[in-house]
Amino acid sequence: MKRFNSIQNIGDIVVDFPKAAELFKELKIDFCCGGNRPLAIALKEQKLDEEKVMAKLNELYEVQQVNHNNSDRDWNEATIGELVKHIVDTHHAYLWSELPKMSEYVTKILRVHGENHPELLKVHKLFHMVKMELEEHLVKEETNQYPAIYRYLETKDKVDLIKAVKIIAELEAEHTAAGDILKELRLVTNDYLVPDDACRSYDLTYLKLVEMESDIFQHIHLENNILFPKLEALTNK
Ligand SMILES: [Fe+2]
Ligand SMILES: [Fe+2]
Repeated sequence: MKRFNSIQNIGDIVVDFPKAAELFKELKIDFCCGGNRPLAIALKEQKLDEEKVMAKLNELYEVQQVNHNNSDRDWNEATIGELVKHIVDTHHAYLWSELPKMSEYVTKILRVHGENHPELLKVHKLFHMVKMELEEHLVKEETNQYPAIYRYLETKDKVDLIKAVKIIAELEAEHTAAGDILKELRLVTNDYLVPDDACRSYDLTYLKLVEMESDIFQHIHLENNILFPKLEALTNK
């Protein structure tokens, strides 16, 4: 019996099998902001062969089961406190440290190559849009939602849980907005294709943008598909 089928939601598949994220990234299937819909719909949109993709996905899963060497932590099994700590220590720390450095790179390649590569103007604009939006978003989570979660875990006061749940819709909308800018960045850079006359900084900037995209997708996945549903489930108890 196969583990996955195409009527399952994309996000649920990644929750169950985190390694699926790698395949979805490769196929440009949005598993974080667009995770809340059946895989079959995304496959149709991307004009992908459903049978082949499902076979590949199930094969990857079987290989992992055989190898038993999955060092990736299953965050669905973690406690809410562990999950929030991991998100802050890994993904928020990454963005706080990398975004300012990347701003310098993006500006530098615009200055050096903007004349011959006008798309760099668009890259500069989009990057700084997503940088600003993400910084405000991180602040909102770190000063509003996460402290409310920690307070709730300590005192079990429902007021704090309600505060943490009430803001989910707003945070999810911001995730979608950031995801949309990342998709546009991918489009204007032709999938981060570096031109022949590029210098090392150009290469490095595009590599860093790809790394940032991957980190943000994982970050949004952990919040949209694991943290937020866990919080919502608690309100029903
Ligand atoms: Fe976050
Ligand atoms: Fe977030």
